[in-house]
Amino acid sequence: MNALHTPTETVRIDLADRSYDILIGENLLGEAGTYGQLPKAAAALIVTNTTVSPLYEAALRQALSVHYKSIHSIQLPDGEVYKDWLTLNLVFDSLLSRACDRKTVLFALGGGVVGDMTGFAAASFMRGVPFVQVPTTLLAQVDSSVGGKTAINHPMGKNMIGAFYQPQRVVCDLNVLKTLPARELSAGLAEIIKYGPISDMPFFDWIEANIDALKACQTQAMAHAVKRSCEIKAYVVGQDEREAGLRAILNFGHTFGHAIEAGLGYGEWLHGEAVACGMVMAANLSAELGLIDAAFVKRLTALIERAGLPIKGPVLNAQDNAGQYLALMLHDKKSVAGDIQFVLIEGPGKARVSAAPEAMVRAVIDRCCA
Ligand code: NAD
Ligand code: GLY
Repeated sequence: MNALHTPTETVRIDLADRSYDILIGENLLGEAGTYGQLPKAAAALIVTNTTVSPLYEAALRQALSVHYKSIHSIQLPDGEVYKDWLTLNLVFDSLLSRACDRKTVLFALGGGVVGDMTGFAAASFMRGVPFVQVPTTLLAQVDSSVGGKTAINHPMGKNMIGAFYQPQRVVCDLNVLKTLPARELSAGLAEIIKYGPISDMPFFDWIEANIDALKACQTQAMAHAVKRSCEIKAYVVGQDEREAGLRAILNFGHTFGHAIEAGLGYGEWLHGEAVACGMVMAANLSAELGLIDAAFVKRLTALIERAGLPIKGPVLNAQDNAGQYLALMLHDKKSVAGDIQFVLIEGPGKARVSAAPEAMVRAVIDRCCA
């Protein structure tokens, strides 16, 4: 069977008056119908970057022209290194210089960097304006555009300044993934793989069986992976929107991963690459604590490697590498009273958050870094 188009699927994220739909399908971005029934406004601002704009801004503009009298846009510089105050301010400059009002709808057209910054701008401009996520990377479609975490980085820590602020809609157009560089596609696969060990082993089995189709960006496989990932994230966020408990499991691999990103300098490793390697480290720590067996660590590591992702952490400090990781991980938002918290796998498909003895963490870092 080779359908020309995969049918559009809708995943609902249930958050009382902040509920919204995630649309997943082909050719959605340039369709006027995709953007119906959003809050009424005279103007829209497309926030994108210098890489994505030439690829998709014209199609989005065309589709939005049916719904808005004025469509403005701003093209931010591209890169994690620009996820900062200075760049965020360009969005506010653009909104104010165009006399945008509190009804203006922001459209985030890009990957997680654009999405996180646009969401934060929407949360704070005039104390909150509506925004729509149009994620164009795999990572953004399966994770960052969903759930309302918005932020910018601080030199001392990743995503340290931000807000919980839900979009009005998320539009995952599978066709845009075709222009993604292979390295970015692999980075997105890291966040897909993440959902298996923390909550859904049948999905993990499916990813193992379909990893080659996913790496080749085969549409049917991608449609399933994006939908299942969004379903899992929607469930978790629906239970715990502001990360009082359960939502923290979505940070599997992120405690080590954020240390890698901050330690190397933002942008050196992609976020998904750092998370992938962080998952290997967190799985090793889980095994060290006797929660899972070595065979599962081996299985997860093999899948991450097949996805084209790093399995060895970088050395961040030649004198005291483990000490450097520990110092950076202290800044993690999950840390409590100086105790670093890790997302650990309790058994395949089940995660929990807890601290671990420092000597054990040091041993894992020493073993997992090359
Ligand atoms: P990114 O936004 O930097 O995009 C990756 C690269 O791909 C960029 O160069 C971008 O311009 C380019 N690109 C985007 N779409 C493209 C397309 N269709 N074709 C060709 N090139 C394209 O990186 P990302 O991996 O999407 O997102 C990473 C960010 O997301 C990090 O800042 C991370 O902290 C954040 N994040 C947030 C959450 C959340 O819940 N809010 C979750 C996970 C990650
Ligand atoms: N990416 C982790 C979260 O959304 O909670």
